Amino acid sequence: MKRSDTAHTDAIDCDAGAIVTKGITKRYGSFTALENVDMIVPRGTIFGLLGPNGAGKTTMIKVLTALIPADAGSACVSGHDVRREPKLVRADIGWVAAEVILDDDLSAMENLWLQAKLQNLSDWKNRALDLLRYFELYDRRNSRVSQFSTGMRKKLEIALALLHQPRVIFMDEPTIGLDPGTRRMLWQLITGINREYGVTILLTSHYIEEADALCSNLAIIDHGRIVATGTPSELKSRVKADIVEIALNYEPDMPTFAHMDGVQEAARTENGMRLKVASSESVLPRILSCLNIDGVLKINVDKPSLETVFIDLTGKRLSDDEGRMDMRKFYATLRMTRR
Ligand SMILES: Nc1ncnc2c1ncn2[C@@H]1O[C@H](COP(=O)(O)OP(=O)(O)OP(=O)(O)O)[C@@H](O)[C@H]1O
Ligand SMILES: [Mg+2]
Repeated sequence: MKRSDTAHTDAIDCDAGAIVTKGITKRYGSFTALENVDMIVPRGTIFGLLGPNGAGKTTMIKVLTALIPADAGSACVSGHDVRREPKLVRADIGWVAAEVILDDDLSAMENLWLQAKLQNLSDWKNRALDLLRYFELYDRRNSRVSQFSTGMRKKLEIALALLHQPRVIFMDEPTIGLDPGTRRMLWQLITGINREYGVTILLTSHYIEEADALCSNLAIIDHGRIVATGTPSELKSRVKADIVEIALNYEPDMPTFAHMDGVQEAARTENGMRLKVASSESVLPRILSCLNIDGVLKINVDKPSLETVFIDLTGKRLSDDEGRMDMRKFYATLRMTRR
């Protein structure tokens, strides 16, 4: 063993959680996608990695699933060092990708068979049938997947990920592009498999309500750095202010707003300004009186919530900006409607 390997193993306590990382850094050329990421995901929990587009969420999953190597730092998944024991890590994890992975021309059972082949599983059939029963797909086990609804497809994707009895499951934006009803059905399934099968789940999301509903612990990532961690309620208690966002068609006089009574912070945004205020009800009339009303395009008020925490920490909304098309969401929706 090289000296650096020993140092690398010594630096991290693999038993501290289902996923433990210390100082993970990942560069793509000169661009740093992850910078010094420390994270502990307690065993048996649902952990949310929240961040805007390009924050580094998928990169983090790729590092943790041993798909790409980190440039620095250490990571353990399910007690195994990702760099030194990638095979053991892969045997213990499942991955539900945002992309569709099912073979439409095969039946549900045949998709599970294919997964068993890929995973080199010999004793898989009973487990597959149990999973089909659990996900209420048993009666449709011999139907071609092309005839499945979006919700049924998602269930099957999760069944595939669970087939080899992993201890940790990674879900990269599992509900992207789904309608609200299917999304809620999936939330129930995710909490269900966490309870029923005792798997630790790390999921990434753009949906703040999703993180709030599902996750016992969260990490907020921005520009490759973890900017906050905690339970949803711990995070929510960080910001005790309303956030007022105003879109304008003219350049606002920022000092006027920054020095206004009740305004804690005032920042210029791409198309207007963002004000952190003690109470929007009492401050809004003052703010409005200082605006050129003809130039006001939009006013948005957020009460204290995970979204305001996110805005406070990153200066961005987690939810997709209205009016800005998320192309992946668009393609995901397109794929679903074509079925
Ligand atoms: N193979 C690559 N080569 C170069 N840059 C990359 C590569 N993969 C990702 N990046 C960059 O690294 C950053 C993080 O990407 P990543 O896909 O991890 O973000 P993300 O948080 O998953 O974003 P999204 O919410 O859009 O899925 C982005 O700026 C991205 O452009
Ligand atoms: Mg991603």
